[in-house]
Amino acid sequence: MDDQEILETSEAEIAVHWKEEDYIHPSNTFIAQANMTDPTIYDRFSLDNFPECFKEYADLLDWYQYWHTTLDTSDAPCWKWFVGGKINASHNCVDRHLTQHKNKAALIYVPEPENEAHAVVTYQELYIRVNETAAMLRDFAGLKAGDRVTIHMPMVPELPVVMLACARLGVIHSVVFAGFSGQACGERIADSGSRVLISMDAYYRSGNLLEHKDKVDAAVAVAAAEGQTVDKVLVYRRYPGQYSAKTPMVEGRDYFADEIVSDYAGSRVDPVPLPAEHPLFLMYTSGTTGRPKGCQHGVGGYLSYVAGTSKFVQDIHPEDVYWCMADIGWITGHSYIVYGPLSLGATSVMFEGVPTYPDAGRAWRIAERLDVNIFHTAPTTIRMLRKAGPDEPAKYNYHFKHMTTVGEPIEPEVWLWYHKVVGKGEAAIVDTWWQTETGGFLCSTMPGLHPMKPGSAGPAMPGIHPVIYDEDGNEVPPGTQKAGNICIRNPWPGIFQTIWGDRDRFVRTYFEKYCKNPESKDWRDWPYFPGDGALQAADGYFRILGRVDDVINVAGHRLGTKELESAALTVEEIAEAAVVPVADDLRGRVPDMYVSLKPGFDASEEVSNKVTRSIETIIGKIARPKHVYIVPDMPKTRSGKIMRRVLSAISNTMEIGDVTTLANPEVVEEVRVMVQGEG
Ligand code: WT7
Repeated sequence: MDDQEILETSEAEIAVHWKEEDYIHPSNTFIAQANMTDPTIYDRFSLDNFPECFKEYADLLDWYQYWHTTLDTSDAPCWKWFVGGKINASHNCVDRHLTQHKNKAALIYVPEPENEAHAVVTYQELYIRVNETAAMLRDFAGLKAGDRVTIHMPMVPELPVVMLACARLGVIHSVVFAGFSGQACGERIADSGSRVLISMDAYYRSGNLLEHKDKVDAAVAVAAAEGQTVDKVLVYRRYPGQYSAKTPMVEGRDYFADEIVSDYAGSRVDPVPLPAEHPLFLMYTSGTTGRPKGCQHGVGGYLSYVAGTSKFVQDIHPEDVYWCMADIGWITGHSYIVYGPLSLGATSVMFEGVPTYPDAGRAWRIAERLDVNIFHTAPTTIRMLRKAGPDEPAKYNYHFKHMTTVGEPIEPEVWLWYHKVVGKGEAAIVDTWWQTETGGFLCSTMPGLHPMKPGSAGPAMPGIHPVIYDEDGNEVPPGTQKAGNICIRNPWPGIFQTIWGDRDRFVRTYFEKYCKNPESKDWRDWPYFPGDGALQAADGYFRILGRVDDVINVAGHRLGTKELESAALTVEEIAEAAVVPVADDLRGRVPDMYVSLKPGFDASEEVSNKVTRSIETIIGKIARPKHVYIVPDMPKTRSGKIMRRVLSAISNTMEIGDVTTLANPEVVEEVRVMVQGEG
């Protein structure tokens, strides 16, 4: 099919006729204005020019002092980038834009209620707020370079302001997604050793002003139980001067941030020139064990990588209005709402609410009103918008030149709706594959250089050299239709530096499997293993198949099965718990929970509800299971291991396979009937 035929064929038809080899080409209008149309960039970033090639990204930034060593491998595999260099992220995202763009919008904040006007924060205004906030953090909260601070805030402009104020001082921020529970926040406070928590009273979600301050007390208590005292909590108010939460403020601990910061009106705080390898932030993510991992990103490498990829892949130009509809509480928001776009002096839109409230036209009204021309979201949201309002985009007068999809594999028919209906056939689309750990994109087409292939992330980014290994470490060549574990042969500036406080886990999780020599200081011996399965087609494009570990990607957010199971096991009646991912039309994958009861307890809806509530309290509502099945017994091997593979086949109505080697094969049919019904 050629590009015109694709636009003229229905989605249902396309889903049937779609062939792996079908490409869609970016328009000439897009190519004519694209930031990157020079194919030699891939040669410049070849392994022969590694690591010096990454100077091209670092040179997009202001440095107080240039580095003497581009990549220091002496503490392999904890790579240090741009050693000897001095830099500050807050200066790069704010101060340096004042000379030319002081009156330009840095952030445009769109509150959820449509009767509340959007707020424009210019670079000058951002500068003032970041300075005053930095003064408050330094002088009132007593924070200094190297200290950690936990930020549990929703999508409000104060969130990037606080992050940039931390970055100005060298304070390491750890932002916890607002949808996480107080308990989940408390565990992250304890792990990071934060003395200060920054929170918010309330925020809007689907028309409701949700109480958020109530999570503070739980968080502080959980942190205290793990030995970490929080002595100051700064609470921003959704409506300054008016407290919307019902939870009382604790005297001597909780303060209204909007009140305190007014004491620092007019304060200026010079950005601290930090060594390039100084940590910028921690971002916690789920792994295969119960404890979340604090991924530590260093200022010089991370900022260079997100600036470079924002410029070339997001194609941000000075006059563009860029809207990434992610939450800043996840890595996408850190890299591609805050640090990447602002380091380039762009205008970045932030939206408080959900794009389908009050109706499925909301997102497109915002796009029309603000004249957004670059749009960035996840397959889950695209599926949701397609279901709620398949014809809505046509009703609004907006035009995207560029769109991104990120976070999970996208089905070709969903991709095509995004292309034809949301993008009106005009936008170049990039499907970007990466992770919390990687700081920025690893695979994506370069939008002005490569054709798009729905469902495939595309080739590797410049300077990223992937390889697919089988279980034994043999390379799987491209074009063989054989899947394997995708790894990256070389370090890059955006890669995280370590897991906060757990170097051993860092090495074990990401490097041990394919390390060629654990004593080596040579990066060639340390391929990075992200934990995803992938296929590489003959054209070099990668199709990412999903996690190969015990991690479930729910709506583009990672959840560890162990975390979910531990939460279920805190319910008094529960003896055993097993979680499996089940396919879901909207959210990609969601958890199905299987539990068995301790002797003396009976199955009831009350018990299932308790399991769900426990997961919501311990992790957050995003982790809520689709079903809780109370089973008479778990299918087990003779050595007593729960066979999750069997449960997963049952949940997903797939072939169960041979169960004769199980200790209790009879239970399989019983569970199957319970889940799928008779027949
Ligand atoms: C996991 C990382 C990357 C920011 C958002 C999620 C999956 C990510 C894609 C994509 C297929 C993708 C992988 C990865 N993933 N992007 N374009 N196509 N799968 O960050 O929470 O760290 O999750 O998301 O499985 O390992 P994260």
